Amino acid sequence: MIFQDRRETTVAFGCAAALILIWISLYNIRGPGLFYEPQPSLELEEGEDSVFLRHAMNVEFPAPIDYTPIHSVCTQSPNNFRPGLLFSCEEQHGGVGMVRNQILKCIRYAIHGGGSLVIPSMAKRNPKDISDIETSNEVSLEYLFDRSAFIEHLTASCPGMRLYNHASDFPAYENRARKNRPLQLAGDQFEPNHPRTGLSDPWSWRESFENWVREQDVEITPEEPVHVRIGQAYLEYPVHNDSLSFASEFGKILSFRADTRALAARVLLALDQRFELGIDPERPINEKSFFGAHLRLEKDAVEAWSPEEGWRFSRMEDQFKEVWGEIRGSGMEVVYVACGDQSIVDKFSKYIATTIKEEGKEMNISVVTKYTLLGGHDLARLNALTFDQQALVDFLIMFKAGFFMGVAHSSFPWTVALRRHELSVFRAMEGEEKEDGGFANLGSDLLRDELSVIMGMRRDYPYVDPFEWGLWP
Ligand SMILES: *[C@@H]1O[C@H](CO)[C@@H](O)[C@H](O)[C@H]1NC(C)=O
Ligand SMILES: *[C@@H]1O[C@H](CO)[C@@H](O)[C@H](O)[C@H]1NC(C)=O
Repeated sequence: MIFQDRRETTVAFGCAAALILIWISLYNIRGPGLFYEPQPSLELEEGEDSVFLRHAMNVEFPAPIDYTPIHSVCTQSPNNFRPGLLFSCEEQHGGVGMVRNQILKCIRYAIHGGGSLVIPSMAKRNPKDISDIETSNEVSLEYLFDRSAFIEHLTASCPGMRLYNHASDFPAYENRARKNRPLQLAGDQFEPNHPRTGLSDPWSWRESFENWVREQDVEITPEEPVHVRIGQAYLEYPVHNDSLSFASEFGKILSFRADTRALAARVLLALDQRFELGIDPERPINEKSFFGAHLRLEKDAVEAWSPEEGWRFSRMEDQFKEVWGEIRGSGMEVVYVACGDQSIVDKFSKYIATTIKEEGKEMNISVVTKYTLLGGHDLARLNALTFDQQALVDFLIMFKAGFFMGVAHSSFPWTVALRRHELSVFRAMEGEEKEDGGFANLGSDLLRDELSVIMGMRRDYPYVDPFEWGLWP
């Protein structure tokens, strides 16, 4: 490389030095082997069970993605996709469950609209205040998800839809209509007062969209393309409308980041080794292995759903009591707690110990978390991740738990429980969704099957969002 003058040379050396420094600090955090991307290879340490880890990492829950139902929706009308139309969905915010669903929904609308798509991005939570989710700190898809898997899955299942890294890569983007700002559209804009079960006529979305585009005084042409930005709306898309199999497969186009899958595999191995649970990593769920409890009592949750406003499960005592009741009945002695705040887990352990003593029971319950199961470099890697990235590890472990429990006001437990429900023997008996809104129901009026429970009854909450209708598991 030829440098034009000394100043540039100095800058170049400065940059190189900075890169080396960054690399060294990353090395310290991550240890040998550095990154797992893009095709994650696990660096094995002595005595580690590589077969277990590979299986645990590669099992897609509860089964590998089947493109067929997505493909059939995408190719239903042969001329659905057209040039000159670009959708994007940036600034999606919330916890992992919410961001994931918003991105899926945006893609679903882009399929309806028949446009191309900018690979979605999202707003990163304020690391100094986890309650602050609507930030202007935009990060790309790989912040939480596996970018190359996303491209592979979406291209294979939806061959007509073109993907772009940036809007500016779109053909003739510089000649687009409304140069100063993309058109803004919220998914529920054409039916703002839809029922709890979501948009009543999703099939008419395309027509409403065409009318709306005309009202904006623009025309979709390859020469002067139109860029439509899909804003955030809440659980308005009736996810079962395409087909039950579409609903089961669609969410799998978003796999979690490879490094979090590798960490989750290690957590599972540690669980298996420490407690001799006999976990078969190739099975989606190992019955009677460990109890997965999602404690949603972190600062952001208690502020958003405060006990003073009637969210009684945001009261620590109430949530602990409910979860403990279920653990006791399950017969499992190892409890994996998914929680972003270790001090809450410590309180839960004490609560269990005290309660067992008071009840005079002979029980030997072990409470563990990702922080207590991982050690060395893996723990350092975990700690180097953000709050939401760490939650991905919990997500993956919760899928595989012998039994799972969580609250009804968070999208995380609903996503886990609905995904697991696909394996439930009760699902086959339900057939199509029921009129009364009970989608997965065995006694409680929220969700209960032999694999999972969403705690409490409807009356235990000021309101329950329609996750069972609006969330692709
Ligand atoms: C999907 O919605 C359309 C109305 O837009 C309706 O006619 C159709 O029956 C729905 N399909 C299912 C499976 O609910
Ligand atoms: C309780 O369980 C742990 C982990 O399985 C085991 O190491 C310990 O020996 C058990 N204690 C008793 C008293 O059974």
